[in-house]
Amino acid sequence: MKTIDDLIRAGVSGRRVFVRADLNVPLEGTTITDDGRIRAVLPTIAALADAGAKVIVASHLGRPKGAPDPQFSLAPAAARLGELLGKDVAFATDTVGESARATVAGLADGQVAVLENLRFNAGETSKDDAERGAFADELASLADVYVGDGFGAVHRKHASVYDLPARLPHAAGGLIAAEVAVLKRLTEDVGRPYAVVLGGAKVSDKLGVIDHLLEKADRILIGGGMAYTFLKAQGHEIGTSLLQEDQISAVVDYLERAKAKGVEFVLPVDVLVAPEFPDLKTKAPAHPAVVGADAIPADQQGLDIGPETRKLYAAKLADAATVFWNGPMGVFEHPDYAEGTRAVAQGLIDSPAFTVVGGGDSAAAVRTLGFDENAFGHISTGGGASLEYLEGKTLPGLAALED
Ligand code: 3PG
Repeated sequence: MKTIDDLIRAGVSGRRVFVRADLNVPLEGTTITDDGRIRAVLPTIAALADAGAKVIVASHLGRPKGAPDPQFSLAPAAARLGELLGKDVAFATDTVGESARATVAGLADGQVAVLENLRFNAGETSKDDAERGAFADELASLADVYVGDGFGAVHRKHASVYDLPARLPHAAGGLIAAEVAVLKRLTEDVGRPYAVVLGGAKVSDKLGVIDHLLEKADRILIGGGMAYTFLKAQGHEIGTSLLQEDQISAVVDYLERAKAKGVEFVLPVDVLVAPEFPDLKTKAPAHPAVVGADAIPADQQGLDIGPETRKLYAAKLADAATVFWNGPMGVFEHPDYAEGTRAVAQGLIDSPAFTVVGGGDSAAAVRTLGFDENAFGHISTGGGASLEYLEGKTLPGLAALED
C-alpha cells in the first residue's frame, strides 16, 4: 500500500488529488456537534495542499436516498474545514456536475475544494457494479490521483471508496494508516487481560464482532440498548426496554460459548428506568429510577446502566492491559442518562491499559461529555469500520488501496 508520504515525495504540485474523507459528522440543523472526523483528516489535506496539490475533498454525510437533500449537505463541514485549515475552501454544490467541474477547474495549486455529499448521487451506494462504475468514471475525470483517508467508510463497497481507486493511481492517507496500525495491534499483538466494552442499540450490529471476540477477548462487558436482549436471554423481564427477540437464541449461544471458553461476559446488575424515552430536543428532566437488572417494571424501559454497574465495569477495566470500547452505555445525549457512558470513559482513562475507543457514537460521546481525547490510547473515527476490521473481514476500501 502506497502512503501519502510516497505520493508527496514523488511530487503532487499542480496535480488534482481526490481525497475520499469521512466528513460524516453529527449535525443539529447546520451546527456540527462534534468535528472530530474533520480534524482527523486535516493533516492529510494540509500536507497535500502544502505540497502544492489541488485538493478535492469528497465524503458522504448521513444516508440521503441517492438525490440531493439539503439536510444532508456537506456545506457546514466544508466551512468548518476552512476554519480549521485557516484558508478558504471552495464548495461545489454537486458531485460530478457543472459546479464540481467548474470548482475543480478553478483551483490553484495548494487550494482545497469540497464536493457536495457523494450520496446525492445514486451511483455512490448502488449494488449494481455498472451503475457504481459509471459514477466512479465521472469522479475519476475530476482528478489525477486518489487518496483514501475516509476510514469510517472503508467497510462500504461504494463508488468513491472501492471503484474510484481502481481508476486512478492511489495511496492511503495518514488517518487510514494510523487507524490500521492501532487495530492491527488489537488483532495480532494484544496485551492481556483484553477487555471489550460493547454498547449501542442493536445486538444484530455486533453479532459478527462478538463471535470473533469470543476467540480473542478475556472479558466482554455489555451495555446500551443491546444489553436488554442479553438480560431477556438470561430469563429476566425487561419491561418495555429495547428488545431484539429474533436475536435471543444467538445471544444464548454466545453466553454458553463464553462459559465454555472461560471468557467472562459481564452484564448490567442495575439500570436506570423510566416510562418514556427522554426528549432529546428539550432535554427536560427525565426523573429515572434505579432498579435491579432483574427487576425492571413491566411499564418501564432501561435507558442507562445503573450506579452498581458503573462501579463493576470500572473495576473490570482497572486491571486490563488492553481495552476496546464501542457503543454508548445509555442515551448519553440526555444528561440524565449520560453517567453510564461517562463512567466507562473514565474507566478507560483510569486504567493503565492501552485503550481504543471505536468510532462513531462512542467517539462523539467522549468528546461531547468533555473528556480530553489525549487521555485515550486511540479514538477511532470508524464505528462499523473498526468493528468489521476486528471481525477479520476484508474491507473494500482497504483492499482497493493495495498496489
Ligand atoms: C459511520 O458513521 O460509521 C460512517 O461514516 C459510515 O456511515 P454509513 O454507516 O452511513 O455508511
